[in-house]
Amino acid sequence: MSYLKVLALYLEIKNPNKNQNQTTELFNEFKAAFGVRKLANEINPNLAQAVINLVENNQVDVNTLSTDNRLIAKHFILVRELVSLYRNAQFKPNKLKQVARWKSMIARDQLDYEIRLAETLFELRHWRAGHKIKSPFSESYYSESGRNAFKNFTKPKFMQILSETFAQQPIHVLDVGCGYGNYIDAVTKWNPNAKMMGLEIQSDLAETAQARFASSENVDLQNTSIFDFETDEKFDLVLFNYVLFYFSNEQKQALLEKIKTLLAPNGKLLICQYYAGIEPLKVELAKAQNDYSLTRQIEMFYGNKVLYANAFWNQTADTFSEAENWERFETMLNSNGFQISNITNADRFYYSLFVEAIRINV
Ligand SMILES: C[S@@+](CC[C@H](N)C(=O)[O-])C[C@H]1O[C@@H](n2cnc3c(N)ncnc32)[C@H](O)[C@@H]1O
Repeated sequence: MSYLKVLALYLEIKNPNKNQNQTTELFNEFKAAFGVRKLANEINPNLAQAVINLVENNQVDVNTLSTDNRLIAKHFILVRELVSLYRNAQFKPNKLKQVARWKSMIARDQLDYEIRLAETLFELRHWRAGHKIKSPFSESYYSESGRNAFKNFTKPKFMQILSETFAQQPIHVLDVGCGYGNYIDAVTKWNPNAKMMGLEIQSDLAETAQARFASSENVDLQNTSIFDFETDEKFDLVLFNYVLFYFSNEQKQALLEKIKTLLAPNGKLLICQYYAGIEPLKVELAKAQNDYSLTRQIEMFYGNKVLYANAFWNQTADTFSEAENWERFETMLNSNGFQISNITNADRFYYSLFVEAIRINV
């Protein structure tokens, strides 16, 4: 929390004059989530200088800080050191204790998603109002994060949805933006008769995934954009896992039009995605599932906060078109002849949701 609070403060200091547009709105939500209520010109100059030193030089003169702010600064440095350790096992942290334990968790991929997210969100420091951030990450960076998210968070719920929705029938599945093919792998292991089609726009990723399934007769992987994909086949299930934020609203309209032509009569869309600002919906979901313990509430509380930073990143980084917005997406589904048939949390934090939709008026 402290880490993202420092970044929110830094961005406020660096962006005293912001434009009134959707990005600024998301920035304000991000700031609010981390308790940054002051405007740039109201922030004490000593604190402002400390924040700048911390973000730009990873150091701070603790004597200029209150006890609370010292702790926040310390936590910021700890997270930065953890990211450095993740990238370089030889890195010698100054503040991080129990380094062997962290190293072992890193080696077992237990913190992949969280550390990479911290690494990603550090890039927010480059945001200047009115401009997109130029992402320094390779095209495959987010696909790798998707791989980790699947392994550590969303796989159990996905398997549960498959078995509840389709029993053990052979199914024909299209995975749009399949990345390394994690969901394809899971479907084929669950039902070896399932016929899979994966689409991946990045050629190196598509090649890796093609090699992974080279011996699987039922898997076809194409290096193409969904918009260029042509087929006469119909699919029982179409997957969009962490892919919609690559598309503009106009593209999403076109996409849904296209999906209508690809779905079998009783076919389903299954979307795995996170949306900021839907806390009431999540509480409703958790209560309906009898899953609203104190631990769960705490996990949801922190997850929701991080989500505001992540949505702001999706809105501002040039890799993405825009952050996914729940109400806009729900409206778009409905106006394109789809109806949401089920919503579940995709992970225990209720960070992402699995949204199932069916066609109406078929
Ligand atoms: C964040 S990754 C998620 C990968 C995978 N679905 C998962 O959840 O593990 C999104 C993937 O969608 C791919 N992608 C983006 N636009 C696409 C398009 N128009 N057609 C096909 N794939 C696309 C990206 O290259 C990337 O590999």
